[in-house]
Amino acid sequence: MHQRTLGRTGWKVSDISFGAWAIGGAWGAVSDDDSLAALHKAIDCGVNFIDTADVYGDGRSERLVARLRKSRKEEIIVATKAGRRLPRQTVEGYSRENLTAWVEDSLRNLSTDALDLLQLHCPPIEIYDRPEVFGVLDDLVAAGKIRYYGVSIEKVEEALKAIEFPNVQTVQIIFNCFRQRPAELFFPQAKQKQVGILARVPLASGLLTGKLRRDSTFSADDHRNFNRHGEAFDVGETFSGVDLDLGLEAVEEIRALLPPSTSLAQFALRWILMFDAVTCAIPGGKRPDQVADNCRASDLPPLTPQAMAAIKNIYDKKIRQHVHHRW
Ligand SMILES: NC(=O)c1ccc[n+]([C@@H]2O[C@H](COP(=O)([O-])OP(=O)(O)OC[C@H]3O[C@@H](n4cnc5c(N)ncnc54)[C@H](OP(=O)(O)O)[C@@H]3O)[C@@H](O)[C@H]2O)c1
Repeated sequence: MHQRTLGRTGWKVSDISFGAWAIGGAWGAVSDDDSLAALHKAIDCGVNFIDTADVYGDGRSERLVARLRKSRKEEIIVATKAGRRLPRQTVEGYSRENLTAWVEDSLRNLSTDALDLLQLHCPPIEIYDRPEVFGVLDDLVAAGKIRYYGVSIEKVEEALKAIEFPNVQTVQIIFNCFRQRPAELFFPQAKQKQVGILARVPLASGLLTGKLRRDSTFSADDHRNFNRHGEAFDVGETFSGVDLDLGLEAVEEIRALLPPSTSLAQFALRWILMFDAVTCAIPGGKRPDQVADNCRASDLPPLTPQAMAAIKNIYDKKIRQHVHHRW
């Protein structure tokens, strides 16, 4: 497992890390035993960074991560998020009182005295016109409640605004073969400012593993069932905002590029790691076998220039017109 430096924190994190949404909720039933087994497998494979959030299963994901940390001797850096407990996203909701209460809840769930990295969880864009919100975060750092902070965002425009705040250490953004725009404008600026980038939804909610079919079904409590059209949250979070049938066509073209003994998930993750502005990809995994498959991407040789050009071509031809201007 290779490591990259996370922003200006000095932390070296695994370039394939772990996204802990699916082990919390909104992805169908996942047992605590399977979740813990997936987490342990990640650490066994060299993962040392986990992304979670207070709302993933109403604290369940954070509490599982706390159990993992308790039973392992390795240093495990945990990023969590705050803001989605609001019934409606408003700038006013990101008050000192709310932020402090959310941090206290996460500290309890994670059984720790200080959060390693707190991310604002896709706040409204107006937040970036309110420096006082970032002032509250600075105060939480000064009080020793959080070590560093960053943001999770939907649109490139939000990412560009966020990194104008000097203490924003990280930006979490959707980046994968089907969401290529961040590499154009945002990555060079983040790199110049030494801001860490967490590439989320790296497998387009499983689409880029190549296992889905037109007739794939998902349980009622899986967002791939209930958020296909953005009914519950931003539509870009489900299959990266790509129509499933269209995505499946594009996946078949990517499959044709696979080198021998490489899974599609590994290939898609290695594509992300070709961008040196990215600190890590944070694929979700519900079971140890998925985690092991994903972690092997770290040790794959670089993709060839021909493969990179082919993926760009597939994106330009099939996907770009549906996503590029939106996020
Ligand atoms: N707003 C935000 O800040 C936000 C939003 C979304 C995600 N995130 C973060 O980003 C992380 C990753 O994104 P994501 O979980 O949405 O999507 P993802 O990583 O693109 O897809 C994860 C899902 O794909 C399937 N999968 C993973 N590896 C596989 C493999 N090797 N073979 C076959 N199937 C595999 C699993 O579900 P199945 O087995 O059910 O198919 C897994 O839950 C999240 O866990 C979370 O930490 C943050």
